Amino acid sequence: MEAVQNYIAEHKDRFLSELMELLKIPSVSADPAFAGDVRKTAEFVKNSLEAAGVDTAEIHETAGHPIVYGEKMINESYPTVLVYGHYDVQPPDPLDLWDSPPFEPVIKKTGIHPEGAIFARGACDDKGQMFMHVKAFEAMVAQENLLCNIKFLIEGEEEIGSDNLGIYCKANADKLSCDMVLLSDTSVIANDVPSITVGLRGLSYVEVEVTGPNRDLHSGVYGGAVGNPINILCDMISSMKNEKLEITIPGFYDDVVIVSESERAEMNAAPFNLDDYKNDLKIEDIVGEEGYTTLERTSIRPTLEVNGMWGGYIGEGAKTVLPSKAYAKISMRLVPNQDPDVITEMFTKHFESIAPPGVTVKVTPHHGGHPAVTPTDTIEYKAAHMAMEKTYGKQPIPQRSGGSIPIVAMFEEVFGVKSVMLGFGLDSDDIHSPNEHYGLFNYYKGIETIPYFFYYYNELKQS
Ligand code: BES
Ligand code: MN
Ligand code: MN
Repeated sequence: MEAVQNYIAEHKDRFLSELMELLKIPSVSADPAFAGDVRKTAEFVKNSLEAAGVDTAEIHETAGHPIVYGEKMINESYPTVLVYGHYDVQPPDPLDLWDSPPFEPVIKKTGIHPEGAIFARGACDDKGQMFMHVKAFEAMVAQENLLCNIKFLIEGEEEIGSDNLGIYCKANADKLSCDMVLLSDTSVIANDVPSITVGLRGLSYVEVEVTGPNRDLHSGVYGGAVGNPINILCDMISSMKNEKLEITIPGFYDDVVIVSESERAEMNAAPFNLDDYKNDLKIEDIVGEEGYTTLERTSIRPTLEVNGMWGGYIGEGAKTVLPSKAYAKISMRLVPNQDPDVITEMFTKHFESIAPPGVTVKVTPHHGGHPAVTPTDTIEYKAAHMAMEKTYGKQPIPQRSGGSIPIVAMFEEVFGVKSVMLGFGLDSDDIHSPNEHYGLFNYYKGIETIPYFFYYYNELKQS
């Protein structure tokens, strides 16, 4: 293991410059205009896997963006780990809020990252975190210290719901068979508070359209007498939460697993400073469901949030218009055992039922995903715990995250295996936002920790 760590220390600079090259390719999966760049990124990843020492690497075509698969089978008696990651990124918009262009990575120091952080779209989510696995693998192969068989599964559609990866997994369950899945696409609590993610929320995402009169109208001539779809949409959205900020869709909470008092107490023992939280976001106060702490509201409780809303006149100056249509994009984060399809159906029925006379409504579902929780009493979790304790010098804390990675629940369903979510980002790394960044400390800490994971996993599995 010492030889592996020495190899990492010796090749640090190259590991960084290679990541910078990867970050220059704008692999925005949501926008068809970037399809060529998404493919280039897949080829970059395939070449990197080959250079790092896989036996075979291939690009698998899908109905959407390609999947990269690579493997190195060392020894039949060793456990097999499937390493998952995604090479696609979120759109960089709004561009004018970036301090430097999103696909021209630069290293800058920040208060939280005194040793520097790489600023670029995808730096943390997930190119930087995915690439740590490629580099850790390179080090283990170079030092002949790889103690598990590895299968890499790196997709280009995580940010748009992973539908094609789901199809690929079902069709290739034998080829992808493994003892566990390992991924780095989540965060730690802080650089001096290591943690392992043991839960993800699910997602139901819908777009709604409210139509009033058959055309835009003069807001003086007609205003006051004709239902305004934007006002009505606002009322409809407001009515979906009560004064306790509980969601009022009938049946919405029916399948929610009530977390035990002892588990809640343990969850709330994790370090969290409300003043720092408010100060970081420059808000005077927090807002959330009555009866729950911030940590609970962002992990074990479901949500309903408007992600975008538009209609009418939004150009320069004032135009007096009573619009014909109003739109909103609404996400619902789900917790065990809520089912995204059931929730989407419930939302649609409810939304249609509360539409007042004078408007018609249409609900269009987008992608969804199931929530996931992973146990802490497995050797997989224990290996991750030991690896982090080794490199951070501290015991990591299990923590549920508020984000979603739809394929994790699918891995369990299709392969019957659990995932270990060994993330190294920080919640303050601005993923999906302008100025996304990833600390150099975090990048290198990840590369150093991953080989220990394989080492301990092999050890625990053989014993
Ligand atoms: N890596 C994130 C999810 C995440 C971030 C989990 C931070 C835990 C901590 C992932 O790339 C992501 O953004 N997922 C989407 C869901 C997807 C269906 C678009 C999300 O959570 O919004
Ligand atoms: Mn991600
Ligand atoms: Mn993401």
